[in-house]
Amino acid sequence: MENLISLVNRIQRACTALGDYGEESALPTLWDSLPSIAVVGGQSSGKSSVLESVVGKDFLPRGSGIVTRRPLVLQLHRIEEGREYAEFLHLPRKKFTDFALVRKEIQDETDRETGRSKQISSVPIHLSIYSPNVVNLTLVDLPGLTKVAVDGQSESIVADIENMVRSYIEKPNCIILAISPANQDLATSDAIKISREVDPKGERTFGVLTKIDLMDKGTDAVDILEGKTYRLQFPWFGVVNRSQADINKNVDMIAARRREREYFSSSPDYKHLAHRMGSEYLGKMLSKHLESVIKSRIPGIQSLVSKTIAELEAELSRLGKPVATDTGGKLYMIMEICRGFDQIYKEHLDGVRPGGDK
Ligand code: GDP
Ligand code: NA
Ligand code: MG
Repeated sequence: MENLISLVNRIQRACTALGDYGEESALPTLWDSLPSIAVVGGQSSGKSSVLESVVGKDFLPRGSGIVTRRPLVLQLHRIEEGREYAEFLHLPRKKFTDFALVRKEIQDETDRETGRSKQISSVPIHLSIYSPNVVNLTLVDLPGLTKVAVDGQSESIVADIENMVRSYIEKPNCIILAISPANQDLATSDAIKISREVDPKGERTFGVLTKIDLMDKGTDAVDILEGKTYRLQFPWFGVVNRSQADINKNVDMIAARRREREYFSSSPDYKHLAHRMGSEYLGKMLSKHLESVIKSRIPGIQSLVSKTIAELEAELSRLGKPVATDTGGKLYMIMEICRGFDQIYKEHLDGVRPGGDK
């Protein structure tokens, strides 16, 4: 299964790399059929913080106000051993091992597209992280939903962000991490509002409650976490991310996770839920869910892959071989990836057929 998820990750990456070309082929359909996970919610609800915790790495710009101004498509690749590193699609062959520099590059690349302003852009940044400490996942960090335009922003920004976010989460294969801060009324949650719009039955929405540590004294989130306030198909997840003071003091991920665990296990309110709270648990459940989704989609993805191989072959022969152009090289790469998928799919079938060893 591990293999299959990482292959799906590669196909997804190849598909987006081909962006322009893709419009004329079956690739967008292929891309649409593969699962990914997007983080949605109001501005400063803790989206980037949740993503970082799921990944277990500090690499995203976080903070108050509009910090995330372009979608970030993040692919996690599990490697067996070795030092972890990151790579941007716009900087091929440059390996980042210092994740502070990854964060800086995200900021710089955001500014390159939007200027140093509060403007947003729908052009995604693609980042891959290779690490022995991650599960294979594709995640999308999105700008936060807002209610009003602030200085320097155009009046249309509220609708622009909403439309951008919707374009990611309306895809039937997008698993939605709907982030709501516990210190605001759930009835006002932008995350719940927009995810309910695209996924009315809650079949692909994971509700995540952040800032549980910031709730008013005398109030607690037990009803929400137990699904009594707003029921979703999946159980709610509660997390405690680092506060702004923690960020300023450079509290690291390991310390933050330990504190998060302690927070839930020692709290009289949440002790009984502690086994299914926290960022690590959320990461595990996401990965498990992703596996089952991919498994159920294999036949559909498989027929698309076959169709794509045929189209790519036709396209390559149209371009003439040997292919020297950049496009040809990319097409060739995609075809190789699709063939790899074909192979794994066949092995998978062997495994599930009667007499197979699964
Ligand atoms: P985003 O705008 O939704 O991506 O939110 P960020 O992840 O950038 O977080 C916004 C601010 O809220 C930052 O200052 C975080 O430190 C803070 N924050 C996020 N989650 C929590 C939490 O669970 N507890 C506390 N105390 N602060 C949090
Ligand atoms: Na923010
Ligand atoms: Mg953010």
